[in-house]
Amino acid sequence: MRTIVIEDSYPAWRRAALAALGSEVSPECIEWRAADSGVEMHSPGLFDGDSVALPAASTLADSPVPAVHISKDLAALLSDAALYRDPYRWAFLYKVLWRWHGGDRSVASPADEDGERLYQMAKAVRRDKHDMIAYVRFRKNDAPPSAPDCGGPEYVAWYEPEHDVLPWAAEHFSQRMGRASWLITTPRGAAFWDGNALHIENRHALSADHAPASADEAEALWLAYYKSTFNPARLNPTALEQHLPVRFWKGLPEAHLIPAMISEAKSGARRIAQASGVGALGGKTVAVDAEQAQPARERPSSLDACRRCELWRHATQAVPGGGPHNARIMLIGEQPGDQEDLAGKAFVGPAGQLLDTAIQRAGLSRVDLYLTNAVKHFKWELRGKRRLHKTPGQREVEACAIWLEQELATIKPTVIVTLGATALGAVLHEKVSMRDYVDAPVQLDTAWLVATYHPSYALRQRDDDERERVLGEITAALKRAKGLVE
Ligand code: URA
Repeated sequence: MRTIVIEDSYPAWRRAALAALGSEVSPECIEWRAADSGVEMHSPGLFDGDSVALPAASTLADSPVPAVHISKDLAALLSDAALYRDPYRWAFLYKVLWRWHGGDRSVASPADEDGERLYQMAKAVRRDKHDMIAYVRFRKNDAPPSAPDCGGPEYVAWYEPEHDVLPWAAEHFSQRMGRASWLITTPRGAAFWDGNALHIENRHALSADHAPASADEAEALWLAYYKSTFNPARLNPTALEQHLPVRFWKGLPEAHLIPAMISEAKSGARRIAQASGVGALGGKTVAVDAEQAQPARERPSSLDACRRCELWRHATQAVPGGGPHNARIMLIGEQPGDQEDLAGKAFVGPAGQLLDTAIQRAGLSRVDLYLTNAVKHFKWELRGKRRLHKTPGQREVEACAIWLEQELATIKPTVIVTLGATALGAVLHEKVSMRDYVDAPVQLDTAWLVATYHPSYALRQRDDDERERVLGEITAALKRAKGLVE
């Protein structure tokens, strides 16, 4: 009997297994043990290719290392099954490899007893990989390290995989999350991406204390999105629990919303059932004027709850205005764009960047200004994979007017700068021609109005000189606003 001690990783097992095959040591004569030592990254595709000759570094000294040709399917099954959490996995995988090497191809078939077990292990691991990718939720790290240069993660996540899929999932995230640093902790180790390289620590058991508790901006955005995509009419709690097993809920920021949404949807369904029950009763029909029958519509309790027009349905969230409450100048745009819709903040996309240039050139500072939009939800149409801006209609501008009025009443700006025709129409409550307003400020009841072009109009100019000219006009309008305040 031989004892083979390996690092608990697929590459280590592969090297040792090939050496053992070279020495013709049968599976019954090996005891496989995982050393509690350093960690080696799992690299996928070790047996890649349809038929691959495997050179191996022998851990059994002087053993001739055979070339083992295995099918691509078997290679994939072995590398996935290697992540299955079972202390006997290495012995089992060696048995499979031994049988294959001996010419017994049935071992790679699900009809075979070992083959079936191999398939089951690989399937469980693949599901676990999928779940980890789907259910890990990163949150902004509330407690970055005190020393700024010690490189703590910007985002953290806690997750409890059933199998050893952490390195695989970490590799996946590292290729998709750009340079932002992050840390995923699990009960059996952690993966840290420092923006350049991945570091895996498999040995230490970590506790759920590593799961940060507080909400952050990314989470608020996700919650807004999740709530807006929830369709009570299509609720099927059994299917929901099947697809989103309760064991994942604790790591998901949206999970705490689910019970309330289910119960709201159920009471909605009950109301509908009651209404149709009443409707089905016999009796005399009394004609009522629809206008009178409608209860007077109340103002929505919050901007995010606003359903005064249909734009909320396809937007991620409502985008409020922002800036100091004592701002003397209020800039009003048309509506949030794609990036504003995702970020929940006005003028953070390309138009916002150009506007920043004009603000700077005018000698103003963005932090002193209040920036908002006439319409608070993003209106768009799909072109290919892009959400393209669509100009809001008069009805949508009117529906959203209550929010702009509220902002004007709260901020009481000395000067209102409208960017583009939609904002100008929203402030004047009528459609007007920009041409009549761009050249000189207009005194309104409580503020000066300075009308200018929207920065997107400058962005749309193909000619550099023309773009510069429009930018110059916007800058001049901002300087005028500055002069009025001063
Ligand atoms: N365009 C706007 O009018 N507002 C924004 O916030 C962004 C682009």
